[in-house]
Amino acid sequence: MKLFRPFNVVVDFETGNLTPGKKITRYLSDIQHFFLDKEKVKAVLAKENPLVYEVIYAEVPEEPGHLAHCTTIIYPGKVGNEFFFTKGHLHEKLETAEIYFTLKGQGRLIMASPDGEECEVLEMFPGSASYIPPSWSHRSVNVGGEPLIFYCIFFADAGHDYATIDKTGFPKVVLERNGEVVVENNPNW
Ligand code: F6R
Ligand code: ZN
Repeated sequence: MKLFRPFNVVVDFETGNLTPGKKITRYLSDIQHFFLDKEKVKAVLAKENPLVYEVIYAEVPEEPGHLAHCTTIIYPGKVGNEFFFTKGHLHEKLETAEIYFTLKGQGRLIMASPDGEECEVLEMFPGSASYIPPSWSHRSVNVGGEPLIFYCIFFADAGHDYATIDKTGFPKVVLERNGEVVVENNPNW
């Protein structure tokens, strides 16, 4: 039997950098269709295309038995009064759970059952270890003025289903109203 060799990666709690790692970047243009205020999105994109978040993966085989892990850095920002967030997804293997451990910043983790009938929102803050049970879709939102940085561990063969969320979005949205962070029903749900 060929053994996979143990290895370290190093996570910088301040920047979220994970080394050695493989980075993916998501810009506003990649997630523009999710925001409520279409006119505001257009206006922002006419001027610039801000970096919304980055994910840095440790290189692990996408095979049963392995644990994938990565950091996510969501930059602070809003479109209108709606905070920056990740695309969000279901795992293709619905039966696989995940843990998000927050290193820096303030966020909200929106989770929904596959039919969207159930929805829960957890606070993310330094030291919070949020458990995403099997079958719950998940999206994270930066509600603070600094980067939201969290470390994720999930089954390496879980797979990511983005198509379902592309069609439906999430049942809840996270907005700023009068300087407060509020969670509201998604009017387009
Ligand atoms: C992996 C996972 C996270 C996210 C990352 C970016 O299963 O949940 O590592 O992939 O926070 O979010 P998405 O993948 O929704 O763009
Ligand atoms: Zn996930």
